[in-house]
Amino acid sequence: MNILLTGSEGQLGRELLPVLTQMGAVTRVDRADCTDCGEVLQRDLGDLDGLEALVDGLRPDVIVNAAAYTAVDRAEADAEAAFRVNEDLPGCLARWSAGNDCLLVHYSTDYVFSGDTNRAYRETDPTGPLSVYGESKLDGERAIAASGCRHAVLRTSWLYSRHGNNFVLTMLRLARERSTLSIVSDQVGCPTWARNLARVTGEVIARLATAASGSGRHGTWHYCDSGVVSWYDFARVIYDTALEVGLLEKAPQLLAVSSAEYPQTAVRPPYSVLDTSAIGRDLGVEPAALQASLKTCLEELKQHDNF
Ligand SMILES: NC(=O)c1ccc[n+]([C@@H]2O[C@H](COP(=O)([O-])OP(=O)(O)OC[C@H]3O[C@@H](n4cnc5c(N)ncnc54)[C@H](OP(=O)(O)O)[C@@H]3O)[C@@H](O)[C@H]2O)c1
Repeated sequence: MNILLTGSEGQLGRELLPVLTQMGAVTRVDRADCTDCGEVLQRDLGDLDGLEALVDGLRPDVIVNAAAYTAVDRAEADAEAAFRVNEDLPGCLARWSAGNDCLLVHYSTDYVFSGDTNRAYRETDPTGPLSVYGESKLDGERAIAASGCRHAVLRTSWLYSRHGNNFVLTMLRLARERSTLSIVSDQVGCPTWARNLARVTGEVIARLATAASGSGRHGTWHYCDSGVVSWYDFARVIYDTALEVGLLEKAPQLLAVSSAEYPQTAVRPPYSVLDTSAIGRDLGVEPAALQASLKTCLEELKQHDNF
């Protein structure tokens, strides 16, 4: 099986690589400018000129699109770039997939919802993004659906991993710089380890990859790890676990603040918990537990990265 992986140097892309390598021959594309990236095709995926020809040359059976414009606050003033990567790119990959019987796996976000509810969102619930990022990701979903290609769009939330920009790494860094931290306590969601989403991606591909096994079974599914927390609660769990595994010697004091007391450029949904029952029912995928996943991630950080 030929697999094209975009965004291979992102936090999810790096976790996807070992999973996908077990399943087929993987070609990686990113705009990464790094020395230890190995065999990555360097390309600005926001520039669609020549992209179709590139994909045509590779002839993938599966495209896994982990590339995305993920700077939620920056997107408010940089909408054009956000829409190019989050809408135009998946639209282009989807049209190629539709014409070439290729399965497209793509990722979307809890930020397509407004968060003005207190129950977990199902795939069929009305969307209502509050930010440019959320709008651009929603338009990407729509472009894929409109193409008619075989696809799995996996909406996820609050990703973290050993790499990249995420809340876990930020909290660990700040623990070394500050003795007191103010953390928002009125935004609630489900932190998800990128490793778990990568594993789930492998399971989804195994089920849907061939036209015969996947026929009639495409669409949007929610996947997040199980564990509903506010950012404040999550910071607490991170510090408790980091102390337990010996990654930190001392945790800062945490102060709970409201979103109003901690204004950010982009508005976030207050309650963006995703209901994962459909992916369990349709594809047999079970969510991993927040605490056990976080502990393994922090243990790996300690072991490999000398954090
Ligand atoms: N992070 C979260 O909390 C979160 C939550 C919900 C859903 N998601 C979704 O999950 C997916 C994976 O997110 P992630 O956290 O792994 O994102 P990430 O770490 O930001 O990785 C995205 C990758 O795409 C690359 N990329 C962006 N624009 C590009 C361009 N124009 N040309 C080539 N490469 C480009 C990035 O390169 P640069 O680093 O150079 O930009 C990066 O390597 C995305 O679809 C995201 O929307 C993420």
